[in-house]
Amino acid sequence: MELEKLFEMAKAARENAYAPYSKFLVGCALETSSNEVYTGCNFENLSFGATICAERTAVGSAVAAGEARPSTHFIKQLVVVTQTESPAPPCGMCLQVLSEFCTSESMIHLANLSGITKSAKLSEFLPHQFESLT
Ligand code: THU
Repeated sequence: MELEKLFEMAKAARENAYAPYSKFLVGCALETSSNEVYTGCNFENLSFGATICAERTAVGSAVAAGEARPSTHFIKQLVVVTQTESPAPPCGMCLQVLSEFCTSESMIHLANLSGITKSAKLSEFLPHQFESLT
């Protein structure tokens, strides 16, 4: 899909964010290797720690639709839109969750309300993810 279109979808998803406490609205549009798109937005909770970020909402949507089977590494690219002028990278928890489903080629595009401001592979944001239980 055209990156511009993915950006527009992330921006539209951001409009649905539920962020009454931080007032920081985030939207995400995630494209899979099978060319499906899933969107997400952050949704907060009065018990602040229960807040879920836009990126994890989009990943959860994709997993719920069956994208993680048979191929675990289904993320081709994603766009995250925030209101900040300068690029706002995903939080550490989201980076760890993304790392579970990204390939070494997956692209993360950060955007403000006008368009993409930074594009990089996941490894630039998270060079050393947790990856072993033994
Ligand atoms: N947030 C996201 O949606 N994604 C991130 O990667 C960082 C933070 C949300 C969580 C919370 O609702 C608000 O932004 C402020 O932290």
